[in-house]
Amino acid sequence: MFSDKNIVVGVCAGIAIYKTCELVRELKRLHANVRVMMTPGATRFIAPLTFQALSGAAVSVDPFEIPQQDDIEHIELSHWADVIVIAPATANTIAKLASGMADNVVTATVLASHAPVVLAPAMNTHMWENVATVENLQRLKKRFFYIVEPEYGELASKREGQGMGRMARVERIITQILYAATQPKRLAGVKITVTAGRTEEYFDPVRMLTNRASGRMGFALAEMAAAMGADVTLISGPTDLTPPDGVQYFQVVHARQMLEMVEKQYPENGVLVMAAAVSDFRPERFSQNKIKKSGNRLQVNLVPNPDILATVAKRKQALHVGFALETDDELKHARDKLKRKKLDLIVVNNPNIPGAGFAVSTNKVTLLFADGKTEELPLLDKRLVALEILQRVAEMLER
Ligand code: CTP
Repeated sequence: MFSDKNIVVGVCAGIAIYKTCELVRELKRLHANVRVMMTPGATRFIAPLTFQALSGAAVSVDPFEIPQQDDIEHIELSHWADVIVIAPATANTIAKLASGMADNVVTATVLASHAPVVLAPAMNTHMWENVATVENLQRLKKRFFYIVEPEYGELASKREGQGMGRMARVERIITQILYAATQPKRLAGVKITVTAGRTEEYFDPVRMLTNRASGRMGFALAEMAAAMGADVTLISGPTDLTPPDGVQYFQVVHARQMLEMVEKQYPENGVLVMAAAVSDFRPERFSQNKIKKSGNRLQVNLVPNPDILATVAKRKQALHVGFALETDDELKHARDKLKRKKLDLIVVNNPNIPGAGFAVSTNKVTLLFADGKTEELPLLDKRLVALEILQRVAEMLER
């Protein structure tokens, strides 16, 4: 995913530092070249040795230390980096960066670099809300720093209890780094509606017809589209996933609700991505009470659900992207769907391929375009699949 990318991770002194260990490990797992630099305060929380072991490279702490042979000089890190990520970014370091200070290896590297910088702030709620911090972050945003907003939750100090200021989840930081490493905000101002997950079609209060879709692919698309600057609406069936920040989120249960919501949120002149696995059928009748066992046969009649894509295709005013889950003759069936549902792009996957399909974090897909072009992608993390799809969408919009 990051195979040719050089990522410099700057670590500051905050309790969220334990998540930075996970971040470094995850970046390595995704094949990034990682170098870690720490402020002196950070080394009081975790020794540089930990990050050396996790990143597989020497850690920079003291800008005056003479580097070992073969080692990158501290100042060289600023040229080496494709992306610099500061996690946790403390209020103190944010203030220093806003005023262009260079008093330690982290601040000096940022000041000397042209690489995009991703900040993952972590601090207590009072510091986060302080006008000084708010203004400093505004200054940095104007200089195109990427800010991964902190989350609400339990803070380190017991006295504070719950509040804003917890460092963002590693997943969110990775999405932002990936985005920063690849391109500018290519979908700025584009309205995108994404559907995700499965629908559930109940025939009594506790029983239903559904499928195994987890919503991961749709959520990854929504998160990546938001990172690329789009104005995103996410409509999902039942799922345990947390909706990404900055995305308008609606949860629905069955296909008819999803159709109603898609019609309401139809992105005129924008993009509709139907990643949801919509149930083609629903039980004909719904029993208000739980159906009791009686005899040894229960017959449930199924009737067809509306086809959402086919319905909105009748008054198509946006770019439509569909998904096709096929277990045989994939490309033929998918090309058929592309035509029938008037799609601009269909993303084909086969759940029987190891690492593809339901409830896994990777996917292996082929892209079929309305103009007849076909593109097969390798097995990739779903976030990277999302990025590839959205890049093609951006290209189509730019045409
Ligand atoms: N889709 C939809 N409404 C439905 C069923 C599917 O909008 N009732 C959308 C899906 O979100 C997907 C595309 O149509 O983007 C193809 O879904 P798929 O289930 O593969 O196709 P079907 O038309 O249902 O065909 P089949 O199940 O016979 O393969």
